[in-house]
Amino acid sequence: MSIRLAILVSGRGSNMESILRAIKDGELDAKVEIVLSNNPEALALVTARKYGVHAIAVDNKGLSREEHEKRVLAELANYDIDLVVLAGYMRILTSNFLQQFKHKEGYFKVINIHPSLLPAFPGANAYEDAFKYGVLVSGITVHLADEKVDHGPILAQETFSRLESDTLESFKARGLAVEHKLYPKVLQSIAKNGIRLLPNEELIKQ
Ligand code: GRF
Repeated sequence: MSIRLAILVSGRGSNMESILRAIKDGELDAKVEIVLSNNPEALALVTARKYGVHAIAVDNKGLSREEHEKRVLAELANYDIDLVVLAGYMRILTSNFLQQFKHKEGYFKVINIHPSLLPAFPGANAYEDAFKYGVLVSGITVHLADEKVDHGPILAQETFSRLESDTLESFKARGLAVEHKLYPKVLQSIAKNGIRLLPNEELIKQ
């Protein structure tokens, strides 16, 4: 089944582009209905339009979190969306926002990619934090969002090594290459099989 996506971004948009490219190349059976950024200057908006996707900014400047989310939700309400895809969206989502995308099985149809092996190194500087800590193996996590930041049922994880010769830049580049393959792959698996959570309730309600 083709899935209808809304992608939320804040900056560069390289993950968003990997999704758009996978769709274009016939590797991902999905349609991006809208790309929305809280940052009007986001490069991601320019890139999305190059792919012919409707891309808009809902600037959060000067707005309370609630008011901003209200405006974002009003935009998203114009579309029939199967899944909200967070791709470098640097905003914390409120419970009210998530509730709008609640699946009958209780999880939220909001997916995120995070550049560490969660639950290690949540937060905005995961590559830096993992690198500074001296991990020998790191990874990328794709998970469903919940009320906590970088938290929720894990859908996929893929590891990558830190090499002795690595600088932070080369470490990040290796991770980003993994991100760009993993996110479209997980989305395609959802398009094909739906969202599959681990049956172990304890695991998914950590
Ligand atoms: C990525 O590293 C992603 O994992 C994290 O934010 C970064 C966004 O990069 N959540 P981009 O905007 O997709 O290039």
